[in-house]
Amino acid sequence: MEKLVSGKIALVTGGGAGMGAADCWKFAQEGAAGILVADLNLEDAQNVCNKIMAAYPACKCVAVKTDVSKEADVDHCFEVLEQEFGTLDILVNNAGVTNKIPFDEMTLKHWEFTYGINITGPFLFCQRALRIMKAKGYGRIINMASVAGHVGGLTSGVDYATTKGAMLTLTRSVAKQGAAYGVTCNSIAPGNIKTAMEKVFGSDWDPMAIPMHRLGEADDIADVVLFLASDMSRYMTGCCLNVNGGLFMQ
Ligand SMILES: NC(=O)c1ccc[n+]([C@@H]2O[C@H](COP(=O)([O-])OP(=O)(O)OC[C@H]3O[C@@H](n4cnc5c(N)ncnc54)[C@H](O)[C@@H]3O)[C@@H](O)[C@H]2O)c1
Repeated sequence: MEKLVSGKIALVTGGGAGMGAADCWKFAQEGAAGILVADLNLEDAQNVCNKIMAAYPACKCVAVKTDVSKEADVDHCFEVLEQEFGTLDILVNNAGVTNKIPFDEMTLKHWEFTYGINITGPFLFCQRALRIMKAKGYGRIINMASVAGHVGGLTSGVDYATTKGAMLTLTRSVAKQGAAYGVTCNSIAPGNIKTAMEKVFGSDWDPMAIPMHRLGEADDIADVVLFLASDMSRYMTGCCLNVNGGLFMQ
């Protein structure tokens, strides 16, 4: 049976750890020909690349040090993509940061830092990816939102929640831009997933409050990313899939 992303080239931001790394593994397992891992932490990104290439030699992985909030870094990332792979089929806008700064203590500096990474970065990546994908008549864009984007920030800062709400709207807007060209754009709103980011919230969360009585694993999300990256989701665009163990239902 043909694998789900056979021969495809993927770019995963924040692919050096957490859910982004799990996405990269999933793509390699399912036949991807190449993965560009763009992360602020080059060492982590390179480690993910080395391990994946050792396990799946047919999948070429390249790590690029990228701060998604910096336009020059994003441009550099696409230059490396062009040199190493010459095309792009799948973009996962996964890099993100959070905090639990109380609203009254939130400074403009905090606000702009979060906006730069969580929403300006995805805008820059979507714009550049869409140019390539529209020209080739095929593409899959997956944006990592959050349950906080639906319900507002409670455990997370208001800056975080509002960027994730904006991610839902960016997704719908990009979906409309790409729909006639074979490019889909969908988002995922995870609940609480066991990664370094989740540790920011410490013991604020009782897993028993989740109807499935457990936090999510990075793979719980990566499987859904894979679905959206594959042809299984071909008639879906502009959607948000809630993957949260029943925490928030829509
Ligand atoms: N973990 C959760 O419970 C949870 C819940 C909902 C949504 N999310 C979202 O899912 C995505 C992945 O989260 P995670 O839990 O895997 O996070 P994580 O903190 O475990 O990993 C994030 C990765 O992004 C990288 N990164 C951070 N800033 C960057 C920047 N400026 N440029 C490039 N890379 C950068 C980090 O180096 C790291 O490798 C994020 O967008 C996050 O907001 C996470």
